[in-house]
Amino acid sequence: MTEYVFMNGEYVDASTASIPIRTHAFLYGTSVFEGIRAYYNPDESQMYAFRVKEHYERLLRSAKVMWMKSPYSIEEYCNITKELLKKNEYKTDVYIRPTLYKSSFKVGPTLTDNEDSFLIFTTPFGNYFEAEKGLKLCVSSWRRTSDNAIPPRAKVSGAYANAALIKTDAHESGFDDAVVLSDCGQVAEGSAMNIFLVINGVLVTSNTTDDILVGVTRNTVIELARELGIPVRERAIDRTELYIADEVFCCGTGAQIVPVESIDHRPVGDGKMGEITRQISKLYYDVVRGKVDKYKHWCTPVYD
Ligand SMILES: Cc1ncc(COP(=O)(O)O)c(C=O)c1O
Repeated sequence: MTEYVFMNGEYVDASTASIPIRTHAFLYGTSVFEGIRAYYNPDESQMYAFRVKEHYERLLRSAKVMWMKSPYSIEEYCNITKELLKKNEYKTDVYIRPTLYKSSFKVGPTLTDNEDSFLIFTTPFGNYFEAEKGLKLCVSSWRRTSDNAIPPRAKVSGAYANAALIKTDAHESGFDDAVVLSDCGQVAEGSAMNIFLVINGVLVTSNTTDDILVGVTRNTVIELARELGIPVRERAIDRTELYIADEVFCCGTGAQIVPVESIDHRPVGDGKMGEITRQISKLYYDVVRGKVDKYKHWCTPVYD
């Protein structure tokens, strides 16, 4: 069966889609992108793409930072994504990767006077982490790039060299992933996911101004916590709060909701998934598959 991608305004066979080696985005990391998930619900024979609109809203914010002109409106992006999923006829969970990129053949990093192109590919995708009990994390010796270097608020491909160093060095040292601190030494996030701590019954997460990607899942978790009556605080977090928190979990489109078992070899709580993490996680996995009426507006059905 042909697998389609969307490129240069058309749905084309993925095996024929390629980018020339002189493309600016390849030379300088000048693309902005999103990672979106679509979940297959076998009971309904339906696929639901999760919070597509919110992802494209962020894509446009990233584009603005990077001097990019969007070729499409949010509504058009949503329709293109739905159509691509439909054409690929998946009956499994899928990862969607829309990318807006600087496509001129140009030596030199300037962003202006440089064409913008757009593509999307999709791929079947299961769990990002295999750790069943929870993640073993360390605090990375790398720091997150600051807002005044490569702004983490914009999801820029070149910035992922930072995530790659954080994740790879954590792996090579035997950890699943790492918590990265901001240049000021406050907890920012994971290599490619946001972080939540439970301290005395309150859900605590880093400020949006602490050099994080402002996650769509982070926002989902905050809304679901409110629904469950769990108080939430967005505030600066010290490194040692990671060691004394009752519960810690990470979240992101790829990671979904994943409990943390230990940080720098110190068990989180009693080392087992905590009650608040369990409640939020259960609700989250029901919501993304379109099983909760109140949140069905976040789920775009793909098949008619
Ligand atoms: C650096 C970083 N932080 C956080 C996240 C989580 O963001 P979201 O929930 O929008 O996927 C991601 C995921 O792509 C990420 O790359």
